[in-house]
Amino acid sequence: MADTRKLLILPGDGIGPEVMREARRILDWLDRKRGIHFELEDDLVGGASIDARGTPLSDGTLALARDADAILFGAVGGPAWEKLGFDKRPEIAILGLRRELGLFANLRPAKVYDPLVSASTLKPEVVRGLDIMIVRESTGGIYFGEPRGIETLPDGQRRGVNTEVYTTSEIERVGRVAFNLAQGRTKRVASVEKSNVMESGLVWRQVMTALRDAEFPDVELTHVLADNCAMQLVRAPKQFDVVVTTNLFGDLLSDLAGQLTGSLGMLPSATLGAVRPDGGRHALYEPIHGSAPDIAGRGAANPLAQILSLAMLLRYSFELTAEAALIEAAVVRVLANGLRTADIMAPGAARVGTGVMGEAVLRELDKVPQ
Ligand code: IPM
Ligand code: MG
Repeated sequence: MADTRKLLILPGDGIGPEVMREARRILDWLDRKRGIHFELEDDLVGGASIDARGTPLSDGTLALARDADAILFGAVGGPAWEKLGFDKRPEIAILGLRRELGLFANLRPAKVYDPLVSASTLKPEVVRGLDIMIVRESTGGIYFGEPRGIETLPDGQRRGVNTEVYTTSEIERVGRVAFNLAQGRTKRVASVEKSNVMESGLVWRQVMTALRDAEFPDVELTHVLADNCAMQLVRAPKQFDVVVTTNLFGDLLSDLAGQLTGSLGMLPSATLGAVRPDGGRHALYEPIHGSAPDIAGRGAANPLAQILSLAMLLRYSFELTAEAALIEAAVVRVLANGLRTADIMAPGAARVGTGVMGEAVLRELDKVPQ
């Protein structure tokens, strides 16, 4: 794995291709300035793939994804495809990649960068220094549970069914990811479910406790009910460090946590599979902001979440920790210099577009002695 690093680039729809362009410039920089070379493949996904091939995730793309050491993903979806059937929409590509590659651990950091404290709708003292890592289970639970479907009852009513279901091994493997991360942070994990009303939640709680006791006795584990967690995240978010939770609760709580930072345009994510015997693991990295069709094509999007997703990719898939840290530091300096895209604009700051923001990160990287 050390010699050839295979990367699949899936820009997708909306602002996806625009922000991906800036991430690719960073990849070029790594190649030119630090001799870190990636073998790149580029393909269509989501709406772009529907238009060209009639499906949001083609077999060919899936094969490239299986073959890659890591996937850098942009965003999918948009009004052009909104009327398509539920199972044909661009978003199905994300679910398909998660399922087919076994990407079960979705890491969603919510970090407040000092220069952006005032971008949050919460008081500065509540969010300053905030650094939460939400670990969301992403191949199980109600998103994939059976039975599911829509049926018509004898009396003509329709009935929609989805099933929340978790097994011991599904809970353990995502729990291990969370506890491992916690060991490199403040050694605290909050496990979130609804064990007061759901059997799957009770199993979740019991398995997490047993796992902590057996394998991670140095980590402090607390259990938080999902509704209370939502409330606590808004009331006093800094009480949390690593949060581990189910697919659906993680979907909701990670949006909430993301908004605490004031800009979804800043937030990267990683979705990891199991470590294989050869030491590698499937992994997909994507900004959480989505395709933002309302600003697509205008060069106004914030490329920093895509660039920070690339930093996560370097760190988690290739152990290029120094390079990841360089990129993250460059992003912070660009913000400290007062550059802002529209989504994080503040009084007195300089408003710039996607390309200028990407360029500014490169200029900061160039200042690092090689
Ligand atoms: C996310 C998104 C997806 C999800 C959708 C687009 C399928 O909301 O990644 O959080 O619900 O998982
Ligand atoms: Mg979501």
